[in-house]
Amino acid sequence: MDMLTTLASSTLLGQSAPTDDMRAAFLADVTIGLAYPQKAVPPRWFYDHQGSELFEEITRLPEYYPTRTEIGILKAHGADIAALIGPGRAVIEFGAGSAVKTPLLLDRIAPAAYVPVDISGDFLRESCEVLSERYDTFPVIPVVADFTDPVELPLAVAQEAKLGFFPGSTIGNLTPSEAVELLRAMRETLGDGAKLLIGMDLIKDRAVLEAAYDDAMGITAQFNLNLAERINRELGGTIPVEALRHRARWNALDARVEMHLEATRDIAFEVGGVRFFMSAGETIHTENSHKYDSASAATLLRAGGWEQQTEYTDADEQFLVVLAQAA
Ligand code: AVJ
Repeated sequence: MDMLTTLASSTLLGQSAPTDDMRAAFLADVTIGLAYPQKAVPPRWFYDHQGSELFEEITRLPEYYPTRTEIGILKAHGADIAALIGPGRAVIEFGAGSAVKTPLLLDRIAPAAYVPVDISGDFLRESCEVLSERYDTFPVIPVVADFTDPVELPLAVAQEAKLGFFPGSTIGNLTPSEAVELLRAMRETLGDGAKLLIGMDLIKDRAVLEAAYDDAMGITAQFNLNLAERINRELGGTIPVEALRHRARWNALDARVEMHLEATRDIAFEVGGVRFFMSAGETIHTENSHKYDSASAATLLRAGGWEQQTEYTDADEQFLVVLAQAA
């Protein structure tokens, strides 16, 4: 099946229906999240068009080491990783592929197929355009789905051995117990004999971590504030964004960087017909970015049904790439 055939069957990449559903889901997440004593909005809502562009900018910031470090690891150990994975696997990427990271894997392992899974048809369409142009030796089959639950994979890859690819430390957005659930769902999606190549960010010096999430140019601040702007744009909210400031702090107890939007004065606003109040200093918790060490990463994987096969890191031990196999 080629890319265009797949795109034409709009059950896979539908347009208007998911948009309405998405808006309803966004509204529900925001109104419920803002009703908690610690206000919170899930980080998946960062990534509208503007948020995605800001995230791209973040990945190029001097302070934001994860992206370039993971790419460096995939480059340095690519041959070794490919030898352990072997040819002929269907690669299931959790999230729309990156034009940089995904080829580092696909170029080396002679896969049977490439199946990116993402909840956003738009991101998937964009990344598939680039990637399917590059490859004609295997099919690129995008699937629009929420991969936090087990995903029904296309029939075309039903018989193939699978390799899950989950780079970028995306798993860090989840609490450890949520991460275990996700790993189990992936284990179920990928089946027996599957392998998983996953990127996780390592615990390190607090100053380095906090700078990575509070850069000097203020791009991460814009990224965080864009969430409030998006609530106003898409949900007709009345949040006085100028009265919010970006905060990023290392929570050592929970081994995570937290991002918050902090009210600089008492404010009141409305979203979806519901009225909310924040007193000066109160925050909306917008993101957790959990960090691991080698031992806690292996434990997490094990609890999720995976056993670690090898791990790779960079010279400064900033980031970890783990190759695991279904236990
Ligand atoms: C895409 C979730 C891995 O947590 O480092 C970057 C998102 N947030 N700067 C991360 C993010 C602020 C990023 N992940």
